[in-house]
Amino acid sequence: MALRQIVTLPEPVLRRKAKPVTKFDKDLQTLIDDMIETMRDAPGVGLAAPQVNISEQLAVIEYSEDEDDEDEEVEGATPKPKKLYVIINPEIVKVSEEKVMGIEGCLSIPGLIGEVERYEAIQVKALNRHGKPVKLKVDGWTARIFQHEIDHLNGVLFTDLSKRVWKPDEEEEIPLD
Ligand code: NI
Repeated sequence: MALRQIVTLPEPVLRRKAKPVTKFDKDLQTLIDDMIETMRDAPGVGLAAPQVNISEQLAVIEYSEDEDDEDEEVEGATPKPKKLYVIINPEIVKVSEEKVMGIEGCLSIPGLIGEVERYEAIQVKALNRHGKPVKLKVDGWTARIFQHEIDHLNGVLFTDLSKRVWKPDEEEEIPLD
């Protein structure tokens, strides 16, 4: 495994629509493992292949809903494990009526965060790392991260959707993806 370099704006690959993955070979497995390692190293909660300069429909996501719930932290309690997702050729097939506002940042747009409205819950059809079809139901921040990553695969960045972007204060710790 190896770390990959995360590309930032104005790298053109970030604006391209990524191509579907068709070969589930050894090179793909290496790329997936490298992306997981790169996401964890950043650290980030998600990473899409175009962010490592590969225009293919693949993203990795790792997040625990506990990360934002500092108030609920109980001493001695075991934190909820993070859940790792690998999604390939994803398609959003269902969305909630409810939308929620939240603050996002992006590893490919350093030094900017912004308010983005997202569906509170979504259903996604995708392939797993072995090419097997999967259907995922996600909500909350996980659903937000999924929408952010799937946008990356279409060349869309959060700053396109945000009505307000700003430079974060030091106290504003936003999970990046
Ligand atoms: Ni991003």
